[in-house]
Amino acid sequence: MSQSPSSTDLLALRDLRAGFDTEEGWRLAVDGISLALQPGRSLGLVGESGCGKSVTALSIMRLLPQPHGHVVGGSIAFEGQDLATLPQAELASLRGGAMSMIFQEPMTALHPVRSIGDQLLEALRLHDRQGSAQAHEARVLEMLQRVGIAGGRDRLRQYPHQLSGGMRQRVMIAMALLNRPRLLIADEPTTALDVTVQAQILELIADLQREMGMGVLLITHDLGVVAQYCDEVAVMYAGRIVERASVQQLFAKPRHAYTRALLASRPRLEGKPKTLLPAIAGQVPSLRDWVSGCRFAPRSGLAHEPAWTQQPLAVVEIEPGHWVEHCPACLS
Ligand SMILES: Nc1ncnc2c1ncn2[C@@H]1O[C@H](COP(=O)(O)OP(=O)(O)OP(=O)(O)O)[C@@H](O)[C@H]1O
Ligand SMILES: [Mg+2]
Repeated sequence: MSQSPSSTDLLALRDLRAGFDTEEGWRLAVDGISLALQPGRSLGLVGESGCGKSVTALSIMRLLPQPHGHVVGGSIAFEGQDLATLPQAELASLRGGAMSMIFQEPMTALHPVRSIGDQLLEALRLHDRQGSAQAHEARVLEMLQRVGIAGGRDRLRQYPHQLSGGMRQRVMIAMALLNRPRLLIADEPTTALDVTVQAQILELIADLQREMGMGVLLITHDLGVVAQYCDEVAVMYAGRIVERASVQQLFAKPRHAYTRALLASRPRLEGKPKTLLPAIAGQVPSLRDWVSGCRFAPRSGLAHEPAWTQQPLAVVEIEPGHWVEHCPACLS
């Protein structure tokens, strides 16, 4: 992973800043993040709740809640094209086509009173105006089968409320993949599901990724999922990326105190069954309490000199491909 975007990147964020107009004024939620994803690879974006993962994803898709959400700085390049300056019509033709997203809340993305078939066929028609109705139906049925939804044509007549949570999530995945995207953003695709269904869904995304060669940005709070399914990882804390590296590098040698705390708080499957280790003490600071420097200082248990929290910190490449926010207290 490189700091500066290269022409081979599928997706490159550079110094992205985004936030919301709130009753208390303007609040940044993503504060100058940079990352890159190559075609066919998968990048895990991890961090606790409220760190800005979904805001990052929605900024890329230009789907921040309106009228309050805005991207206010930096660039978002998809295959070298700057999405921030792309006209809405061109962006709409990319969305759901060359790049698509599985949303954290599946019900928000499915229309409650339209049949599954209707919605899937429309998603396909929007991006493939040439194909015949029969060809479209065949493709939808094939994709439903591919995501493990049996029942063929009968399924097309069903409505979202007639499906279980796991089945709805599969429909969402089918919809996201129908147009064979080159970039898939999967925002916590399995949080609402039970553990066995979670594993099936992640395996399914991995299989389809190999088959289609798409790049995947996988958002999760679970480093175990990242270890299993991703090539690279970016660790997000309070609107910043504090560390990013290949999965091997990060797990072998985590350098930022927040990454180490996240790793230590993972539930272990070995040892005592289902022992939940304590979560990281304290809470992610709310947007209004962000400092310019190290935001993890109060929770780190490490002594910070005032300058380390008050002044912006550089992000340094500590070894090739391994980037860390340079807080002298948190860096090891
Ligand atoms: N519509 C909004 N208006 C104001 N603030 C918002 C809005 N949506 C999100 N935020 C704030 O932006 C910050 C980042 O939220 P985001 O949803 O990106 O977190 P996340 O990392 O995806 O968390 P989770 O793991 O819970 O999904 C949070 O402090 C959140 O409260
Ligand atoms: Mg989220």
